[in-house]
Amino acid sequence: MPELIWDGKGVEQPVPVRALDFDAALSCGDGDNLIVRGDNLAAMTSLLRFYRGRVKCIYIDPPYNTGAAFEHYNDNFEHDLWLSMMSQRLKLMKQLLSDDGSIWISIDDDEAHYLKVICDEIFGRNNFVGNAVWHKKGTRSNDARWFSDNHDFILVYALDKERFHMNLLPRTEGSLKNYSNPDNDPRGVWQSLPLQAKSGSASTANFVHVFSNGVKWSPPPGRFPAFSHESLDALERDNRIWFGKKGTNVPRYKKFLSDVKDGFVPTTLWFRDEVGDNQEAKREVKALGLVFDTPKPERLIERVLTLATNAGDLVMDCFLGSGTTAAVAHKLNRRYIGVEIGEHATTHVVPRLRQVVGTHGGGFKFCRLGEEIFDAAGNFNHALTFETLAQFIWFGLTGQVLVDENEFPMLGICDGAAVYLLDDLLTRETFAKLPTYNGRKIVYAAACRLSDRFLRDNEIEFRHVPNDLRT
Ligand SMILES: C[S@@+](CC[C@H](N)C(=O)[O-])C[C@H]1O[C@@H](n2cnc3c(N)ncnc32)[C@H](O)[C@@H]1O
Repeated sequence: MPELIWDGKGVEQPVPVRALDFDAALSCGDGDNLIVRGDNLAAMTSLLRFYRGRVKCIYIDPPYNTGAAFEHYNDNFEHDLWLSMMSQRLKLMKQLLSDDGSIWISIDDDEAHYLKVICDEIFGRNNFVGNAVWHKKGTRSNDARWFSDNHDFILVYALDKERFHMNLLPRTEGSLKNYSNPDNDPRGVWQSLPLQAKSGSASTANFVHVFSNGVKWSPPPGRFPAFSHESLDALERDNRIWFGKKGTNVPRYKKFLSDVKDGFVPTTLWFRDEVGDNQEAKREVKALGLVFDTPKPERLIERVLTLATNAGDLVMDCFLGSGTTAAVAHKLNRRYIGVEIGEHATTHVVPRLRQVVGTHGGGFKFCRLGEEIFDAAGNFNHALTFETLAQFIWFGLTGQVLVDENEFPMLGICDGAAVYLLDDLLTRETFAKLPTYNGRKIVYAAACRLSDRFLRDNEIEFRHVPNDLRT
């Protein structure tokens, strides 16, 4: 397969594994939706410990590399660096996707075609689902030197196209207006369609069908019968032939709404009147009292999530910006993880999501990337506090931040097992002091001085710190 080569390709910076520090003051309500402030490379490395293969849809809107310096982030990378930055991150995203998951990437002409090639390499050309063209701007930039740039792309890949199912778009009111039920058919509303087709066989040139009421029907000149005599008889027996209210019209057949797909296959053209444009997006953040240079409109993200996910599915956006994906996911009842490196994680995302929680309930947890558990070379940090280590272990087991420290050294119950972290060795004495639990117990400690027999009899599974913390 042809390959794109650039300076620095394949030279990937090793990433330390970090804890996530829970910030109660910036979190809101109940629920395990997660907002992480920090570099998505490090954040995804930590998230992988639990979320590998669990994310149904990743939407990202990375810096397009347009050369601009936006107020909140830099969009001017060297071309090679941009490709390296994206490629290393896309590989992590791939590991986070579920077998039936998909990734949707907003991009424009500056990098779109290079991105397509690196995505082909990472996700496989056969998993390319499509490339939607989004009409991002309704006005012409007459000061543009060549073209007025009015569209972006959304590049879509599945982890495995054979297992990826894309939803239909809901029918609009306009598309339903042709359906009615003038004969009160118990099967519901229907529309009448002609019995002829544009193409067919020459052998049907003199086709005449006689219905049981004596009405004779032939296709108009140049057209062909859409049904055989047998099929027309069957349709008539099933009360699917319509001769008009007075019974005198040219016969047509009844197509019931319940027999057609209950939605639309999306086209690759996404018009601004259907999914919003850049102006709409700016108005949306402004209405929240925020200013952000490059937000996406909520209707655009709503379309992505409608096609790619169902209620309860997990969505991730690791270039979160002003928080649009998280806000829309919340409103649509999806679970979500958002990662943003900039200060606007606190100044924009948090207030935006607080408003959403205020109306829709639920909540989110806010974390920062914390101390290194293992440095980039894989060395364990022996200076970690008990709390940081506890947080790291609990997140790796459950994908949730630890908010209740009341029972320490018991961290909580995970899959029916009590989980403990000792800052001492595991011995009969230290075990005897643990909060009791009737059932399986997982104990993390630096060493174990208990016999296999004692471990078995007491349903204890010992896990070594730090060896068993490596993935
Ligand atoms: C185009 S904006 C996303 C806008 C977003 N779709 C919205 O609707 O507001 C790109 C975002 O990616 C963030 N970003 C850039 N590099 C990042 C990184 N390495 N880790 C996390 N976020 C990053 C930038 O700070 C910026 O907020």
